Amino acid sequence: MQNTQERTQANKERYLNELLEILRIPSVSADPAFADDVRKTAEFVQEKMNQAGVSHTKIYETAGHPIVYGEHLVDPALPTVLVYGHYDVQPPDPLNLWHSPPFEPVIKKTDLHPEGAIFARGACDDKGQMFMHIKAFESMNAAGELPCNLKFMIEGEEEVGSVNLGPFCKKYKEMLSCDVVLLSDTSIIANDVPSITIGLRGLSYIEVKVTGPNKDLHSGVYGGAVVNPINALTKMIASLHDENGRITIPEFYDDVQELSKEDRDEMAKAPFDIETYMKGLGVTELNGESGYEPRERTSIRPTLDVNGIWGGYIGEGAKTVLPSEAFAKISMRLVPYQTPEKITQLFQEHFEAIAPKGVKVEVFPHHGGQPAVTPTDTVEYKAASMALEKTFGRKPIPERSGGSIPIVSLFEEVFGVKSVLMGFGLNTDDIHSPNEHYGIFNYFKGIETIPYFYHYYAQEK
Ligand code: BES
Ligand code: MN
Ligand code: MN
Repeated sequence: MQNTQERTQANKERYLNELLEILRIPSVSADPAFADDVRKTAEFVQEKMNQAGVSHTKIYETAGHPIVYGEHLVDPALPTVLVYGHYDVQPPDPLNLWHSPPFEPVIKKTDLHPEGAIFARGACDDKGQMFMHIKAFESMNAAGELPCNLKFMIEGEEEVGSVNLGPFCKKYKEMLSCDVVLLSDTSIIANDVPSITIGLRGLSYIEVKVTGPNKDLHSGVYGGAVVNPINALTKMIASLHDENGRITIPEFYDDVQELSKEDRDEMAKAPFDIETYMKGLGVTELNGESGYEPRERTSIRPTLDVNGIWGGYIGEGAKTVLPSEAFAKISMRLVPYQTPEKITQLFQEHFEAIAPKGVKVEVFPHHGGQPAVTPTDTVEYKAASMALEKTFGRKPIPERSGGSIPIVSLFEEVFGVKSVLMGFGLNTDDIHSPNEHYGIFNYFKGIETIPYFYHYYAQEK
């Protein structure tokens, strides 16, 4: 009988083709026009779990998109791992910047992916990474080598803030009980530099509206006397950072912890080439909060960014108009001990306070998320570290990431367990951007590594 790894080898082509199949379904959670496709994707996930041999599967309805649950209990004496992932994807826009249609996956070689990468929305975030878990299970199960009990919880609303997953976890706390949560929705440093994510930033997301005159006006007839809401908004936004790149909202940094010199020195040891980084992004300079390195600014420091801004005339040619309204979407990434509730409130108070006379300012909070950090002195970290070392031939580096997965802090709160963030993407895989892709190497490396996690976890536990 074939062992787990031989099983994967023997089924490589099918494992890849099935991923391409799920990538063809446009499961854009943010856009109601795609609701049917989101559901189809959930059904596809369930079907693949069934085919892989997961003994019990069920689709749970929520107020939003469905959650796919799977359960495979081997022996109550063995530890239980809950696998979390998401089958929803970000909207593919702007479509004109894709080199091939976002939901028609194609395989192309790149400098960082000489073995080829799959180009499609969701290839890396998170269909490709989520699907590795179903395939790893399939190989282990077929080989009769499952060393623990498994539960799968695959949601369809991660990209829109996981609003219904929290209540689901609380309601089905018994059913979901586990010893650890395992997820692949983060990155490694490079294909020859494995890492384990030990921190995620939190998020506070806000929309603002500035209203001036009761209608759009002729900018010649009224300009100069009537406050222009776009001028007002951009001035307010510009004032949110000082000349040192620090955020000016009072009390914003109150709960932020400074890392020790040792911790920062340790971080600096991980390989990072600033020239390659800038070149890949087409920029010639980096900038941010003074006193911190680029990698610190994107992981251990909080930030504030405008995600979108609009108002007035944006069509072809010129139209002389003094607009009535201006809007912006603003996100703040948070670090441990900051909370989205408090930061959102501080933002709101400050933004209202700096509103110039002559305009009305309204602040509408969107979803938020708590930051998370995981310790490295645990059985689960050790198991993940051993698994990656086994398959990469190199000990993984613990790393704090800049992204957010809001539900992770809730897992600890509700289930009382830690999460292992064992992702296999690269930061350069263009998740959320046009031409998102996922390395074939990374896909199969994940499928190869996951079984070792179970193995070492069951052994060490
Ligand atoms: N998988 C990402 C988060 C991520 C990416 C973490 C890379 C670490 C490295 C996730 O799907 C995501 O995009 N999260 C959102 C937050 C969510 C509330 C929309 C994010 O970070 O913007
Ligand atoms: Mn994701
Ligand atoms: Mn995402």
